[in-house]
Amino acid sequence: MQIRNRLLGGGLVCVVVFSAFTGLAKADNLGERTVKSLCISCHRIEGDPVSRQNKKAPDLIWAGNKYQHQWLVEWLQNPKQRLYPVGYDYHPKRKQPHLALPAETAAAVVQYLALLKDPRIQEDIMKPGTSEQIQKGKKLYQEHACTNCHWTPANTRRGYTGGKSSTSFLKMGTRLKADWVYRFNLNPNDFVPESGAYIPNPPLPDSDIYAITVYMMTFGK
Ligand code: HEC
Ligand code: HEC
Repeated sequence: MQIRNRLLGGGLVCVVVFSAFTGLAKADNLGERTVKSLCISCHRIEGDPVSRQNKKAPDLIWAGNKYQHQWLVEWLQNPKQRLYPVGYDYHPKRKQPHLALPAETAAAVVQYLALLKDPRIQEDIMKPGTSEQIQKGKKLYQEHACTNCHWTPANTRRGYTGGKSSTSFLKMGTRLKADWVYRFNLNPNDFVPESGAYIPNPPLPDSDIYAITVYMMTFGK
């Protein structure tokens, strides 16, 4: 009522501001409605970390920290790039193509997903690496055999190498946000239990994880 009274007295400027506001609310609502009607049958948007065996699709719980805006808007419209080369849950029936969204819906969904943030992820930690850090990261990446489970860009005929049991890293540098990748690498089990089985004991120092992350963010750039 208060808004209305102000509107009545306030003239054109207020009316314009008010309708811009309701327009925005509608767009937000399209994103949330789409996610809650179409996506949560496969993806979780809240809850505790759970291993891949018990899920149909990757968690979107921390989507706002994880995906780069541009990549996500484009992928949701044209999800051809295979992220899990053997299918996410190894279930042949569910290896069908991912649903694609029209442009306006994709934009609204991304706007909504951007609100899903995980307080464990600190933002603005990662900076573009120096060439020294990238070289150090590359060496560590090789020593710890990350390629065994993740497709990794390489000078081969296909343009990549590696095992396909987990996520493809081919477009890493334009797909994921560096701060999320860094926090994931610090302790993978915090996000996907049982995904950090390869981690040495004691774990690598943070500066090594930083270098590995800087190196990974060069993939596909
Ligand atoms: C039938 C189940 C299903 C539905 C419904 C579904 N997805 Fe997916 N989604 C998957 C699977 C499986 C993958 C892994 C795809 C791959 O390997 O390329 C995936 C991958 C993704 C990814 C990339 C995840 C990552 O971390 O790599 C995003 C983002 C995503 N989906 C968003 C959505 C949104 C938004 C919707 C609703 C509009 C949706 N999905 C609906 C099954 C589903
Ligand atoms: C034994 C197999 C294995 C090895 C080796 C491995 N990973 Fe993974 N990685 C996983 C699994 C499992 C996941 C969780 C996703 C899934 O369920 O496939 C994962 C996920 C990730 C993700 C998140 C990807 C995404 O899109 O959600 C990153 C980042 C990652 N690993 C980095 C690394 C790094 C860095 C190394 C080497 C130091 C490494 N991984 C070695 C199995 C492995």
